[in-house]
Amino acid sequence: MVDLTTTYMGLKLNTPIVASASPLSQRVDTIKQLAEAGVSAVVMYSLFEEQVIQQSLEIDHLLTHGTDSFAEALSYLPDSGRYSVIPDRYVDQLANLKAAAGIPVIGSLNGVSPGGWVRYAKLMQDAGADGVELNIYYIPTDFDLTGTQLEATYVKLVKAVRAEITIPLAVKLSPYFTALPNLARQLQEAGANALVLFNRFYQPDFDLEALEVVPNIRLSTSDELRLPLRAVSLLHGRVPVDLAITSGVHTAHDVLKSMMAGAKVTMLASALLKGDAPSHARDILADLRAWMEEHEYESITQMQGSMSQRHVAEPAAFERANYMKVLGSFRFSDGSATHSSLTMGMLYPFLGTPINDAGAEEE
Ligand SMILES: Cc1cc2nc3c(=O)[nH]c(=O)nc-3n(C[C@H](O)[C@H](O)[C@H](O)COP(=O)(O)O)c2cc1C
Repeated sequence: MVDLTTTYMGLKLNTPIVASASPLSQRVDTIKQLAEAGVSAVVMYSLFEEQVIQQSLEIDHLLTHGTDSFAEALSYLPDSGRYSVIPDRYVDQLANLKAAAGIPVIGSLNGVSPGGWVRYAKLMQDAGADGVELNIYYIPTDFDLTGTQLEATYVKLVKAVRAEITIPLAVKLSPYFTALPNLARQLQEAGANALVLFNRFYQPDFDLEALEVVPNIRLSTSDELRLPLRAVSLLHGRVPVDLAITSGVHTAHDVLKSMMAGAKVTMLASALLKGDAPSHARDILADLRAWMEEHEYESITQMQGSMSQRHVAEPAAFERANYMKVLGSFRFSDGSATHSSLTMGMLYPFLGTPINDAGAEEE
């Protein structure tokens, strides 16, 4: 029997499959079923900075103006939309999940600016959270804001949340940082125990008929795994934080790749939201066990980081040299090589080896 246990931010988990932050955690029964299926922990849907601030504004308005002008005042407040939760209800839901699920529950705070709202990290801890995940989802639009200033704000926010709690803290990041290794180190020094890589940006589309910007959520596919896979491979063993992969984990193979890159856990949302979440989780775990038995792996821990940049036979595979190699391997449909593959082949004899349709190198 293979051993699927792993640890994440000091939590001992039965399997490397965690339910990522999503509306699934609004349903206690679903989370119970996921736990029975082998999902080892759950990250709750997020409590947003804006929701906490809105609640404070409403209370403040009630206290200072009475109820007469309240309805009108509310209409000017930003509409949090269907995904709205009242912060205190959030904390109650966390306690409910904790009481019913039988697996670790991680609260999720989602915001960008240090401020009074971060006290909810402490309220989550008091409600029984096993950890807090801080999702920093910032989209810069200010031309005067530099990357250094932005990173300093991230660090300040992490310090502010760390100061509120004693339980483990994870930070969920977007992929578009210029110098991720350095930022990872800064966040760890600010108090992060884990990094969750990566947020998927929900990129708005244009409706050409209505000439409107339309936000819509598309579920991921396994193709999206490559982005966090490389980041985790590069960071593994170099910063003393646990790494979690989210984005594009759908199959047992995706979980295996994530473990080999160096992740402690994988966090799944799209795969579970697509259909019957518990049965899908069960299938992934069955496939995972079968693959490990077939390939004579005894445990998940044994494979964690085995394909990270520190351990892989060709570390350059993650870097620029490989970028050129990949471009150089392209062939037109008539089989002829590109100009760049010829040039690169001359510069770097190991590059530009013709690759046939099946992807295998030709003799
Ligand atoms: C419908 C939906 C709601 C989500 N809500 C949250 C959220 O509240 N907080 C958060 O940090 N991530 C949220 N996410 C992001 C997921 O947790 C996950 O990181 C992302 O979808 C990538 O993983 P996937 O490829 O398995 O979907 C949400 C994703 C979806 C699809």
